[in-house]
Amino acid sequence: MKNFISVNDVSNVTDWVHQAIRVKQDPFAQQHIGRNKTLGLLFLNPSLRTRMSMQKAALNLGMHVMVMNLYHDGWMIEFEDGSVMNQNTQEHIREAAAVISQYCDIVGIRTFPTLEDREKDYADKVIRQFIAHASVPVISLESAILHPLQSFADAITIREHQKKDKPKVVLSWAPHPRALPQAVANSFVEWMAHMDVELVVTNPERFDLAPRFSDQATVVHNQQEAFEDADFIYAKNWSSYEEYGRKAHGLEHWIIDESKMSITNNAYFMHCLPVRRNVVVTDGVIEGPESLVIKQAKNREFAAQTVLINLLENEG
Ligand code: CP
Repeated sequence: MKNFISVNDVSNVTDWVHQAIRVKQDPFAQQHIGRNKTLGLLFLNPSLRTRMSMQKAALNLGMHVMVMNLYHDGWMIEFEDGSVMNQNTQEHIREAAAVISQYCDIVGIRTFPTLEDREKDYADKVIRQFIAHASVPVISLESAILHPLQSFADAITIREHQKKDKPKVVLSWAPHPRALPQAVANSFVEWMAHMDVELVVTNPERFDLAPRFSDQATVVHNQQEAFEDADFIYAKNWSSYEEYGRKAHGLEHWIIDESKMSITNNAYFMHCLPVRRNVVVTDGVIEGPESLVIKQAKNREFAAQTVLINLLENEG
């Protein structure tokens, strides 16, 4: 594995989930792997979990970590080749990625989509340009269209809690006052396709994910019907792919509440966080005994650590 930007970089999802569970049992057992190695984390957008779990994972392996809020602490980066840089951008990705590669053994980068230009966002240009010009492995800390570290942690969490061989996992669209990326949902579908689960995605009409993702699941536009017999409910908002970047209006009733959870097979509740309480999910559900949100966040550490181990071991 040279980089970690999607599930396609993982040789075998089941093996990786088992490896992460072993890492969790003894997180400091491989402290030697990262000795004298440096992880650089570049954030073009905000983060709590990704930032802290990556740092914790690296420290568990004996690595040094450097973190930059690129657009607050650094220069504005130009990603277009051949551009005349007489506007707001101050440094080209060609120099920036080459320079950063000299200081770091692995680099993570987080970048959100514009939600205005679908073609550009779905080309995932920022992270791909970074990879093209970096000489060290690159980890996606969430890109314009995918959030593989989150989905890996979700896969670990489901594996730890499933009560049957093939659980029914429902990814449910939920309301939100702002237009959000599709990355978490896209990635979740991609990773679940590699797990032994029955995956159902439920969302309002005109909020289907991009076909390359929605084609990997059963899509049901009736939320109540989707919830029947579910073993896991994963809530997430995303803006429209079809009417790109449009947020929903008048769909507040898609909130995950106790009455909907009562239709399920006593399902666990999942969300990647951060979450807007009483908009996406009621206090009662997120604080209920079946809520896994804090455990999911804990597993971000071991997902990150497993990715680092595989990248470092691959380095030879
Ligand atoms: N779930 C997640 O990626 O959280 P942060 O945005 O806080 O990193």
